[in-house]
Amino acid sequence: MEQKKTVTAQRDGEIALLVANNPPVNTINASVRNDLGRALDEIRSWTDIKAVVLLCEGSTFFSGADIGEFAGPPREEEYRRLFNAIENLSVPVIAAMHGTVLGGGLEIALACHYRIALPRTRFGLPEVTLGIIPGAGGTQRMPRLIGVEKTLELILSARPVDTAQAKTLGFLDEVVEGDLREAAITYARKLLADGRGVRRTGERSVDPATATPEIIERLTEQAKRQYPNRTAPFTAIEAVLASTRLPLAEGLELETELVNKCKKTDESKGAVHAFFAERETRKIPDLPSTAVARPVKSAGIIGAGTMGGGIAICFANAGIPVTIIEVSQEGLDRGLANISGIYDSMVERGRLTAEEKEQRMSLIKGSLSYDDLRDADVIIEAVFENMELKKRIFAKLDEVAKPGAVLATNTSTLDIDEIASATKRPEDVIGMHFFSPANVMPLLEVVRTQRTSADTIRTVMDLSKPLRKTPVLARVCYGFIGNRMMEGYAREAERMVLEGATPRQVDTALERWGMAMGILAVFDMAGLDVGVNIHKEHAHRYPPDPTYYQADFALVEAGRLGQKNGKGYYRYEPGDRTRYDDPEAIEILRARAAKLGVEQREHTDEEIVERCTLALINEGIRILEEGIAVRASDIDVVWNAGYGFPRFRGGPLFYADTIGLPKVLEGVLKYQRIFGPMHWQPAPLLEKLVRENKTIAQWEAERHGR
Ligand SMILES: NC(=O)c1ccc[n+]([C@@H]2O[C@H](COP(=O)([O-])OP(=O)(O)OC[C@H]3O[C@@H](n4cnc5c(N)ncnc54)[C@H](O)[C@@H]3O)[C@@H](O)[C@H]2O)c1
Repeated sequence: MEQKKTVTAQRDGEIALLVANNPPVNTINASVRNDLGRALDEIRSWTDIKAVVLLCEGSTFFSGADIGEFAGPPREEEYRRLFNAIENLSVPVIAAMHGTVLGGGLEIALACHYRIALPRTRFGLPEVTLGIIPGAGGTQRMPRLIGVEKTLELILSARPVDTAQAKTLGFLDEVVEGDLREAAITYARKLLADGRGVRRTGERSVDPATATPEIIERLTEQAKRQYPNRTAPFTAIEAVLASTRLPLAEGLELETELVNKCKKTDESKGAVHAFFAERETRKIPDLPSTAVARPVKSAGIIGAGTMGGGIAICFANAGIPVTIIEVSQEGLDRGLANISGIYDSMVERGRLTAEEKEQRMSLIKGSLSYDDLRDADVIIEAVFENMELKKRIFAKLDEVAKPGAVLATNTSTLDIDEIASATKRPEDVIGMHFFSPANVMPLLEVVRTQRTSADTIRTVMDLSKPLRKTPVLARVCYGFIGNRMMEGYAREAERMVLEGATPRQVDTALERWGMAMGILAVFDMAGLDVGVNIHKEHAHRYPPDPTYYQADFALVEAGRLGQKNGKGYYRYEPGDRTRYDDPEAIEILRARAAKLGVEQREHTDEEIVERCTLALINEGIRILEEGIAVRASDIDVVWNAGYGFPRFRGGPLFYADTIGLPKVLEGVLKYQRIFGPMHWQPAPLLEKLVRENKTIAQWEAERHGR
């Protein structure tokens, strides 16, 4: 059977159309390139053609190039030839766009002579987030259209722009309404009627006023601040600047050379790994193919506190009606007011219209009666972190929930097997561990117990899609994947401030290395008392180390609770999240260190990062070995999506392979010699892999039979 073509040549009178259809998002892959090449040949044989329109069927114009081809041989030359062939057509070529037009998708449009789009189309060149630069002409053609400065702003921000911005920037000619194909044909005929012809981007020159030394310096400085430890943004500056002095053909050759250099960097390998890791998490090898997701048409939440409110917003945003249960009218009113407030701030920032807010609020109902959960397909408990309370609630849910309803808990630390034992249907019980703020953070740890059924797991993994969460499946253990790894990471940070490093020194070292936020600042934000309460409750699990988490204890005992009362590791002004150094906090930490007999000394940034990350990696390897996570890359996703780990480093375990497991083991043993074996025991799998001279990736490939 002949394979269906992804691009066809069609015509409407004197107008030829190149129509692509490569579901789901019209990615430009090998078959699109082949079929586009053939369709172009066909069009060239139609000698009576006056204009050509390039457009896509389905939900979007070309959304981008196929990132899956990254690992294979370079394709840039092929792109170059194809896009040049479009640009060199002897009649005007119009790109008619809709949807999300990113990377290669936008670059093909730049090779066309005119660009039009439907309202709400979005455009971007996000390549630097993958550790590369635009490689299909973007760095050479975009500056010819809008100048160097705006091109670099677009590339360095990596954020998409809308049609209004695209018009102002100057690479979009017109916004059209209605049926795109019809509108494009009308636009083409109008061009011809107005006598406007071929307009090749490559034949234009770049306005030198957009590339003055001041502009380049400003953008370089900005990139240095925004992208420490990165090379791609600076390579992008180099490539775009070349457009001011090289003719298109030479500029494109340089671009190819530079993009292929980028692909070999750790930064690009890490970012591409992070990208694909996120797409893997829904695949659960040990779930039988017979597992079926149950439809979720309505939901229930117990507890309208911080988490309950955020989770309710996720459901309402997904269009799923949700009922929230509280113990008192007062609690309910407060919870609903908080939700309304979160929506208000979205309206203020232009993220939502007032009507959309009303529509979403109308999906959220409050109630004081569990009877109102009777119709819910999924119920998520988000009350105080207390086992007895949670068990009581699950016993009650057992009485009211309909058969087959998923009974989920948002617990961070409690044993979900035990919670499930309070019901007669443990197979329906599962953990849905959202991260705060639940309506913003993309991560969802899905925690299966010994008895959670395959259908329940499938239901929650699939539900994560409309909720716009990245789900990672974990098994029950203290802290699951993310918080269990946090324990050693935070332990080292707290220990170092007792040893005399300042909070700013610790946080800055971690941030310079790439963490979104230093851990001590994170604790200030979450509330130091919250951490201390957890530490107290779990003291019996901790090793007998009198300095363990003592920085937190010392500050809380001195009345410093973090941002909520304006003082924690740092000092804060009312209504301002800026961290100010506070000698008082440093004095409290020094005094506690003296009391505990912790010696004061200097720390380098290198030591700070090494101690924190090695503790993190070592525990991650344990989690992998114990089978708490399905695969190593899932552990990476947890830290990338939930804890601000730098995506360009791939995730903790990918990073471990990048620096080399022998170096990881050597580091763990070094700190074992300095601090003793209580906290510094190499994970058995780490030792085994070093002995066998293998990487985590190799071990994974062997284990999964790849
Ligand atoms: N806050 C976080 O960062 C975070 C992150 C992940 C998970 N969690 C977990 O989520 C859960 C909730 O945490 P939170 O921060 O939202 O707490 P919270 O104190 O803000 O809210 C808890 C809410 O539950 C209500 N509640 C108590 N008993 C109830 C009952 N019997 N029926 C109905 N409502 C009841 C309370 O009135 C309160 O409004 C905890 O298990 C916590 O460990 C919290």
